[in-house]
Amino acid sequence: MRLIAVQPDMSADRFLNLTRRQRLCDRLFQQLLPKLLIVNPGNGFRLRIFHASPGQSLQKYCSSDHVRKSASQLWKLLSDLLGEDVKKKNVRSLIENFCSNLYNKSQNRSPSPPSSKSKPRHDLSQAPEYDRLYNRTDELATLKQWILTENSRIVTLTGLSGIGKTALARQLVEQIQDNFDRILWRSHRKFPNFNALQSHIIESLAPPPSSQNPSITNSLNSDNSMLDHLRSHRCLIILDDFQETLTPRELVGNYRPEYQNYGQLINEIGQLPHQSCLLLLSWEQPLEIAALETENPYCKTLQVSGLDKLATQILNARKLKDQKKWSELIQLYSANPLWLNLIASTILDLFNGSVQEYLSYPTLFLGDLEPILKQHYQRLCESEKILIQWLANQEKPLKITQKPPELLAVKDFLKAIQSLTRRNLLEKSSGLTLQPVIKQYVNHLIR
Ligand SMILES: Nc1ncnc2c1ncn2[C@@H]1O[C@H](COP(=O)(O)OP(=O)(O)OP(=O)(O)O)[C@@H](O)[C@H]1O
Ligand SMILES: [Mg+2]
Repeated sequence: MRLIAVQPDMSADRFLNLTRRQRLCDRLFQQLLPKLLIVNPGNGFRLRIFHASPGQSLQKYCSSDHVRKSASQLWKLLSDLLGEDVKKKNVRSLIENFCSNLYNKSQNRSPSPPSSKSKPRHDLSQAPEYDRLYNRTDELATLKQWILTENSRIVTLTGLSGIGKTALARQLVEQIQDNFDRILWRSHRKFPNFNALQSHIIESLAPPPSSQNPSITNSLNSDNSMLDHLRSHRCLIILDDFQETLTPRELVGNYRPEYQNYGQLINEIGQLPHQSCLLLLSWEQPLEIAALETENPYCKTLQVSGLDKLATQILNARKLKDQKKWSELIQLYSANPLWLNLIASTILDLFNGSVQEYLSYPTLFLGDLEPILKQHYQRLCESEKILIQWLANQEKPLKITQKPPELLAVKDFLKAIQSLTRRNLLEKSSGLTLQPVIKQYVNHLIR
């Protein structure tokens, strides 16, 4: 007898590792390993059992006597595990049904539609709530197109602190939640390492104990991989504060040692077929995402920018004066809603709400913005600091070719540009330039 397990794009060794997570397969492998042959022809995932007549290639592996004895042990083992009387004539269909339910190879919905079988479970208990949010109509339309129409598997929202990533994701989830069987919102800040995060997600997505075959399904549910869950239900997982997983004071994108395995998971979620979406919110763009995006249509990044015209509504709600000066204020603070709210408080406190009086002041006041900007600045490596300080001293945007020879070696200069861009600290539209607030902060530091 041969038991052959097949999965595309996966080496036999790796498949064996993954399969070990399944208790059924654990037991099968432990007890029947000498009789198992694992191959990888790369044409879809299924489990096949069939007999080989004595004298065929199987004899390479064991004698026909041994095969007969093992077969009867196997029937017994499978009967115990599946809760059905397994015989030679029904073994194939029982195993195949079981495995196809387990792995749910359909790229769309699970074989028995999840929504009809299991109630949607949406856990937004850790999603922040906001009093009043103005609708970012364009961004919401783009995100809905990516997630609902194009079935994107990983969507990343990047942008500086306070730009509105969490608020935008919150609005999005409100509008698309009915399309998902499972929704889970978590922040990376709550997890000390990758394993803790991954186990928590798997546990949260696992279905509640089933009344049918509880001995099997319960143990299997807890051992499924994240990808199994993303396949068997349409899940939306929102993971906020992704930058917490990355090492500060190095060029952007290197994981902290305790998050080393994250990149592999991101690659799997981006590349392997499933029906779910991972929404990452981050100050900085993950390296895998930057790479995946270039060739994978299922991975997208939205660089969240300021509120644009909606920013006036913030100033209006704060009852600031001198409306004709608002656009100047909005431009100075890059329409960043948090920055605008903070500076609005300062203007109300110190200038009786007069934007004109505040702007007549010669320097851009940072006040409560300083600790926020400091968090970003402290994450930079030395070459980025050199570059940002040089740019903070420039009056006009610079061309990439205008680097003074003594500033940095070309290689370090280009890497630093790329890194600062991925941290959303450098603008490149009309040459290299910094947002006024960033420029002010850096200049203030170096004086
Ligand atoms: N669309 C919006 N309409 C009104 N206010 C907004 C909007 N988006 C963001 N804000 C305001 O800006 C503040 C910061 O937004 P948010 O928490 O989403 O920023 P963030 O990008 O997630 O920042 P961080 O990276 O620090 O978590 C919010 O508390 C809210 O007051
Ligand atoms: Mg946030």
